[in-house]
Amino acid sequence: MKFFIDTANLDQIREANDLGVLDGVTTNPSLMAKEGISGTERVRKHYVDICSIVDGDVSAEVIATDYEGIIKEGEELAKLHKNIVVKVPMIRDGIKAIKYFTQKGIRTNCTLVFSAGQALLAAKAGATYVSPFIGRLDDVSTDGLALIEDIRTIYDNYGYDTEILAASVRHPMHIIDCAKIGADVATCPLSAIVALLKHPLTDSGLAQFLADHAKAAAK
Ligand code: G3P
Repeated sequence: MKFFIDTANLDQIREANDLGVLDGVTTNPSLMAKEGISGTERVRKHYVDICSIVDGDVSAEVIATDYEGIIKEGEELAKLHKNIVVKVPMIRDGIKAIKYFTQKGIRTNCTLVFSAGQALLAAKAGATYVSPFIGRLDDVSTDGLALIEDIRTIYDNYGYDTEILAASVRHPMHIIDCAKIGADVATCPLSAIVALLKHPLTDSGLAQFLADHAKAAAK
């Protein structure tokens, strides 16, 4: 399973990349705004900065919601760097635009996906990635992981190439469960990735090894 980091924060992207396990980055307009990045030129420069840190796919989301606007913006974003993946919302004009981008060889990430039917449409349009938001489904008492399972089954039934990119991941168990189900990618906050490192028996075991080593060396 590929690990993406879900942030526009350059320090966190660098930290995750330094771990050596990062395969890409996802952003969205809210994450950009959280970093105080605004204005077309500034946002685009930020995408290029992210691409200079991580050698992997970087999702850049369109703001336009009409077909022509999505096409124009998506084509401009795709030209920024070879690793840019154009992130398009799951709306009627978005699906049409994904089909257009697919035919043009521009890679896409269909975002804001909350149902298996939406994921099926994204695959039929040729999306490179589909982004089901599992945490936001959990937030409204709906099983986000069950959606990942349904999409996995549907895509496998028909051999769709679209990669399932589990988004809105909130904690390490989401990552483990996504891996068990067979999601292709999990995009995670840095905290969830780092939490995978942690186990109290690792810490106490290491402390014991080092203490025994020091004791033996002192003899
Ligand atoms: O990037 C989309 C998604 O991962 C957002 O997550 O935590 O805002 O639901 P969250």
